[in-house]
Amino acid sequence: MAEDLKITKGHKEPQYQSLIPQIKALIVREGDVVANLANISAALKEQFNFLWVGFYLVKDDELVLGPFQGPVACTRIAKGRGVCGTSWERKETIIVPDVEAFPGHIACSSLSKSEIVVPVIRNDKVTAVLDVDSDQLNEFDETDQKYLEEIVRHIRI
Ligand code: SME
Repeated sequence: MAEDLKITKGHKEPQYQSLIPQIKALIVREGDVVANLANISAALKEQFNFLWVGFYLVKDDELVLGPFQGPVACTRIAKGRGVCGTSWERKETIIVPDVEAFPGHIACSSLSKSEIVVPVIRNDKVTAVLDVDSDQLNEFDETDQKYLEEIVRHIRI
C-alpha cells in the first residue's frame, strides 16, 4: 500500500509541466479575467479529466460562482463555509482526501470524492478560489498544490 502510494505520488508532474506553458501562453496577452478563468478551467479539465474545475470569485462578503467546467454547481458560498469558504478564510490551499470527512463540506455533486481548493491572492487579499473536484478518493497531493498555486499566481484579478 505504502509502495503504491509512493509510485503514484507526483505522477501528474509531467502533465503539469507541459500544461503550465500552455496556460501561460493562453492568458498572457488577454486582459479579460473571465476569458482567462474560463480557459484555465478548460485546460485543466481537458488535461486531467477532473470531475469539476472552476473558480469562485469574492464578491462583497460571499464567493460567487465563476467560470467552470463540469456539472452545475452551487452559486454562492459564505466565508468560512465548505472547503472553498474555509480556504478563503484561512488564505491557504486545502487538500481534502475524502470529502465525507471534511466537516461542513458542501456537496455540489454526489460524485465528488476528493477536492483541492487554492486561493487566488492579490495584495494580501483573497480575490477568488480555484476549486478542483475528483470522483476518486485521495486524488490530490502536494504536486497538485505546487502547480495549481503556480497557475493561480498568473491570474490578474
Ligand atoms: N465542495 C465545495 C463547494 C463547491 S463544489 O464542489 C463545485 C465546498 O465545500 O466548498
